[in-house]
Amino acid sequence: MLRSALLAAAGSANVRRLVEANPLTGPVVDRYVAGTTAQDAVEVTRALSSRGLHVSLDHLGEDTRDSGQATDTVNAYRAVLGSLSDEGSAARAEVSVKLSAVGQFLPKDGEKIALENARLICEAAAAAGTTVTLDMEDHTTTDSTLDILRDLRVDFPSTGAVLQAYLRRTEQDCRDLATAGSRVRLCKGAYAEPASVAFQERAEVDRAYVRCLRILMQGAGYPMVATHDPRMVAIATDLAARARRSPESFEFQMLYGIRPAEQVRLAADGHRLRVYVAYGDEWYGYFMRRLAERPANLVFFARSLLGR
Ligand code: FDA
Repeated sequence: MLRSALLAAAGSANVRRLVEANPLTGPVVDRYVAGTTAQDAVEVTRALSSRGLHVSLDHLGEDTRDSGQATDTVNAYRAVLGSLSDEGSAARAEVSVKLSAVGQFLPKDGEKIALENARLICEAAAAAGTTVTLDMEDHTTTDSTLDILRDLRVDFPSTGAVLQAYLRRTEQDCRDLATAGSRVRLCKGAYAEPASVAFQERAEVDRAYVRCLRILMQGAGYPMVATHDPRMVAIATDLAARARRSPESFEFQMLYGIRPAEQVRLAADGHRLRVYVAYGDEWYGYFMRRLAERPANLVFFARSLLGR
C-alpha cells in the first residue's frame, strides 16, 4: 500500500513541489544523491575508488518531453566522461543512462532520438575507455529499451542492460541476453507495475530473482548482481562458485548510501563491487523510489521533516 502510494507520488507534480520546497528534505536526499555537479560526481568516484570500489554514474533526470533537455543530458554525460578520463578514473567508472532522459518519450521520433543520443554517450564513453549501462524503467519501455540496446551493441558491444526480476517476462529476457560479451544488471525492480506483467509479492519476486540469477550465472555473459539483499548476495556467490566463475567474471552492485559497510566488505573479500552513484538536480523521482523500497525510510524522512 505504502509502496504504491509513494510510487504514485513519484509521478505527482504537486507532491514534488511540496517535497522540493521543504528545506529539511535536503539532508535526507543527501544520503542517496552524491551532489549536483559533475565535479561532485568525480570526487565521490575518487573517494569510492580509493576504497577499492567501482562506480556507475547516473546523471539524474527522466521522462523528458523536451528535446533541448535531452540534448543537455547528453552533454552532461559527455562532460563527466571527459572529467573522468582527464583524471584517470574512467577505468573504475562507467555511466548508467535512462533512455527516457535522452528522448525516448518525445512525441515525435522519440525512440530514434533516444538511440541517436545514447549512441553519442556510448561514443564519449568509448573515447574515455569505459562503457554504458542502460537503466530499465517501467514495463511500457522494456521492448523499446531492449531494441535500442541491440542497435547500440552493434558498434558498442559492451553496452549493458538492466533486467527487473519482478517482471514475468524477465526469465526469458535473461536467457536471450546470457550470451558472450553481454553485460546484464539484474535488479528486483523499482516501479509500480500491474499484476498482469509483474509479480506482486516480495517472496515471489525473490524466487524470480534467484531463477534469473541461475540463468545468468550459468550463461556466457557478465552478470551484474544489483541488490542489497544479504540472501541474494549469498545465493549469487554460491551460484557463481557452482558455475566455476572467477571473481572477474561477474560483479555485485549497490546504490550509493545503502549498506556502505557491506559494499567495502564485499570488495575486501575479493569481489568486484560497483556503487551506483546518482548526482544532479533532478533527484525527485529517484529519491521517491528509494523511499518506497523501505518503509522505515519514510518514518526517517517524516521525522526529519518534522525536525525530530
Ligand atoms: P530489498 O528491497 O529486499 O532490500 C534488501 C535490504 O536492502 C533491505 O532490507 C534494506 O536493508 C536494504 N535496502 C534496500 N533498499 C533500501 C533503501 N532504499 N534504503 C535503505 N535500505 C535499503 N530498479 C529498476 O527498476 N531499474 C533500474 O535500472 C535499477 N537500477 C539499479 C541499479 C543498482 C546498482 C541497484 C542496486 C538497484 C537498481 N534498481 C533499479 C533498484 C532495484 O530494482 C530495487 O528497487 C532496489 O535495489 C531494492 O531491492 P534490493 O534487491 O536491494 O532488495
